[in-house]
Amino acid sequence: MEVVNNYQSNCSKCIQIGKDTDKLAADEKYCDVASIRVPETLTDLISELNKIFALDRVNIEYVQTLMTMYKSNPKEWRKYAKFDQHRYTRNLVDEGNGKFNLMLLCWNENQGSSIHSHANSHCFLKVLEGSVKEELYDWPTQHQDLTSDTGHHGLECRKISTFNTNEVAYISDSIGLHRIENPSHTEKAVTLHLYSPPFQECYCFDKMTGHSTVSKMTFWSKFGKRTPFGSDCGSTVAENN
Ligand SMILES: [Fe+2]
Repeated sequence: MEVVNNYQSNCSKCIQIGKDTDKLAADEKYCDVASIRVPETLTDLISELNKIFALDRVNIEYVQTLMTMYKSNPKEWRKYAKFDQHRYTRNLVDEGNGKFNLMLLCWNENQGSSIHSHANSHCFLKVLEGSVKEELYDWPTQHQDLTSDTGHHGLECRKISTFNTNEVAYISDSIGLHRIENPSHTEKAVTLHLYSPPFQECYCFDKMTGHSTVSKMTFWSKFGKRTPFGSDCGSTVAENN
């Protein structure tokens, strides 16, 4: 237990993702970004992510740096990149031994998400191709929620960022809500997302009112194969992140 306390005081940049104190008490492996070996391939990156998330504490900066260091190679991820003309798609790549979900999101020109939360998970987003725009929002206040029927008190964008190929963004519910969009009229975008722990539904928000609705997450494909209709990709309206 003492070691756990030491861990907590020494690793202020770590997040706890599990309850196993033995794993928490492990050494500070995967904390020093200077020790990161560049992942040569997507397979290398996934292998390293599985090792990192096997521990019950994770260093956000370490994961962000590791994902940034992988240089996107379309030959390695093209088999997962499936587009739909009507909306962006979520394509499962790896289930991280239950600790995380890793997926490709494929954005046709001008496709975007709604404003959404992340179910108390940690979200890493790496751009594999093109660029994406992130609009960051604060959570609606209780006052907004109660008065939004008037049409006032909508959500106001707090910050707009653009992430280019190979850059990595991070968000969690403590940072706020966001919306992602491919702003290009001419280029597609592909992003690699890691969510830990995995989640199946989140809140989506109406910008004008601040009202939220629960939205289930679905996969357009899993491990490179189109998800059959009637299972994950049924008629349910699905939103994602
Ligand atoms: Fe998101």
